[in-house]
Parts: sequence; C-alpha cells; structure tokens
Amino acid sequence: MKYDFETVHKRFNTGSSKWNELVKFGVREDENIIPFSVADMEFVTAPEIIDALKHELDTSIMGYENPTESYLESVCSWMKTRHNWDAKPEWILPSHGIVDAFFEAVRTYTNQGDGIILTTPVYHPMYMAVNFNNRRLIDCPMINTGTRYEIDFDDLSCKAESPNAKMMILCSPHNPCGRVWTREELMRIAEICMKNHILVVSDEIHFDLLMPGHNHTVFASLSDEIANNCLVLTAPSKTFNIAGLQTSNVFIPNPELRRKFHDSLRLSNPNPKCNILGYVASEAAYRHCAEWLDECLSVIDANRKAITEFISRELPMIKITNLEGTYLLWLDMNGLGINHKELERINHEEARLFFDEGYIFGKQGEGFERWNIACPTRYIYDALERMKSAYIKHMK
Ligand SMILES: Cc1ncc(COP(=O)(O)O)c(C=O)c1O
Repeated sequence: MKYDFETVHKRFNTGSSKWNELVKFGVREDENIIPFSVADMEFVTAPEIIDALKHELDTSIMGYENPTESYLESVCSWMKTRHNWDAKPEWILPSHGIVDAFFEAVRTYTNQGDGIILTTPVYHPMYMAVNFNNRRLIDCPMINTGTRYEIDFDDLSCKAESPNAKMMILCSPHNPCGRVWTREELMRIAEICMKNHILVVSDEIHFDLLMPGHNHTVFASLSDEIANNCLVLTAPSKTFNIAGLQTSNVFIPNPELRRKFHDSLRLSNPNPKCNILGYVASEAAYRHCAEWLDECLSVIDANRKAITEFISRELPMIKITNLEGTYLLWLDMNGLGINHKELERINHEEARLFFDEGYIFGKQGEGFERWNIACPTRYIYDALERMKSAYIKHMK
C-alpha cells in the first residue's frame, strides 16, 4: 500500500463525537479499543490533503471566501470521472453539511403538515428533518430478504398517491442497509415521484464508497426530466474523512428550484459560506486523492470479508446484510436470542463494543447493530474475538 491505513491517532478527549461516547461509558485509554459508531473513519488524512492545507495556512489570509471556479471545476470533474455525470458548476450551492441541506430542502419546498416519504430503516436525522419541521412522515418500510433490502414498490406507489405527499428523501447509497440502488430501481422511484408531483431529495453522501461489483448512479443523471425534479446532495466528507471541515455540495439542475433554495437559505443562514480550509481540502481531495480512496476501499472490503468469514464460522446465528456501499455493516443480531437492550448492555459492559444501535434508525432496526468498519483491520479481529467470548455466555 502506498498510503497509511494502520495508524490510529489519539482521539480521546479531543471533542470527537464518536470517541466522546467511549468516555461516557467509562472506557479507559489503556484499554486500546476504538468505537465503531458515528460515521467517520479511523484512518489518517491523505497526505495530499494535509499538504494542501499546510500550503494554504502558510500562504493565505483567512478572509471571507467564496467557492472559486477552480473548486467548482474540481467538483464537476470528479462527478464526470468517478460517476459519469455531466454536472454543471452553476448547479452547485455549497452547504455546511448534508443534514443542514435536507433540513433546508424540507423547509423550502414543503409546508407544515405535508407528507415526506422515507424508505426505512434509515439514517435517523432524516426522521428529525420531518418531525422537527412539523411535516408528516410517510413511512415506506423496506423488504428485508435476509441479506439485502429492497424497496416495496407496491407500497411506495400506493403511498405516493396520497394528496399530501410532497417530497421523498432518498438515501442513496443507503445508510444503514448498505444498498447501492440499481439504475432500474432509481428509474422506478423517479417515475413514481414524477407521476405524483413529488420532489426527490437524493442524499448521495456515501456515493464514492462502493464495494467491488457495485456502481452508483447519480439520481439526476437518469434523464433531463428527472434532473429537473430533484436535488442531489454530495460531499467529499465521508469519502475522504474530512467531515469536520463541513463542506458539501447541493446540486440543483432546475433553475427555479435552485432560486427557491437559495432564497430560503438566505432566511435561515444569511451568509451561507463554507470554511476556506474546507474548500481547499475538498479540491485537493477531488483532484489528487482517487488513489488514496481506492486503497481505502480495499481495506474496507478486507474488513467486510474478515467479519463475514468469522461470523459465518463462529457466530452463524448473526445475519449480515450484504455490503454494497458505505462502510457501515448492518447486522441482524436477533438470532442470538438476546433482547436488544440486554445485548446493548453486554456489548458495552462485557464485550466493550460500541456500535450504533439499530433501533435509532427506526422500529425495523430493533435487534440490529450498525458496525462502522472504516478502521485498521487489527481492530476488527480484536472486536470479533471479544464478541465471541461475550456472546457465547448469553446465547439461547
Ligand atoms: C446518509 C447521510 N447523510 C448525511 C450525513 C451527515 O452529513 P453532514 O455531516 O454533511 O451533515 C451522514 C452521516 O453519517 C449520512 O450517513
């Protein structure tokens, strides 16, 4: 490997959201374990990004900063080379984050009481975007085939006909179920939504994180007509582990929808600029870090394989959902015969495992764990051994 995917920097008492959870549960630094929850990676930043940031610190004045033409070009050229999508720089509105962006989209294009479709279980802030803004959840539970989740298109078609259905927030690739939606599936979603005048907000933050054999289709690339009925939310934050720099891109091909978003943003965030260092890091990532990403994906894939092999051999009652995209493995623990709250206790107190509990992603997530596997492989092996010795004592 050209890059370092072995070193773990100390994140105890640093303000890291993920590591602060460990401290809350009384984990000591000398236990030498890492958390597997919040979706950032335990990999050091690509040196090309660090160099670009150092250069910026050495040479620039930290004044107000707008995205440069060069920044916008780097974003569009990534979309073309990595995703075969001809995006235009003028479609882009920078945003501090994707969560901010879908909250804003809900406020911009829907009214209180309007229905918003989610295919569940799903990334929990999407429920918040609906509930905190007093919109109504239109819940379309997905079908779990055991190893894969699928959209229930009969249910979606039926619920989309509800007169107050106004928006669908699509998670593509899907967190936490690890699906990379096929072109055919996306076409069906697009057709149902267009037929019923439902705007699609496609959260594609995980779009670069693909396992071998899976290709991502950008929702707006399906056709011009579909592009006119959607927002595509992307960021380099998950891909290159730079979420703390809070720089994302909202693509709105339809000029009228773009104007509305821009005007609405001005009310909630009158000066919607991103951080100067965020632009620098993002541009360096998109221009120079494709090779880093490819190596990173191979480590994630190796971790996925290590877990799959170990669990099928030692703990076959745990069902692993196929990981097509993201670095978030979705495990069905119900076969252990342990109540999910008791399992949470065993994980924390006995196995010293800190996953995201499945129930935070919705009712269907009960009894599941979401395992963030973007970390050096030795931590995965270590965790599997702790898992086995703790679970064997409690299994029914
Ligand atoms: C689907 C999805 N959207 C958005 C986010 C967070 O985006 P941001 O940090 O840009 O607000 C995450 C983080 O895990 C995510 O999984």
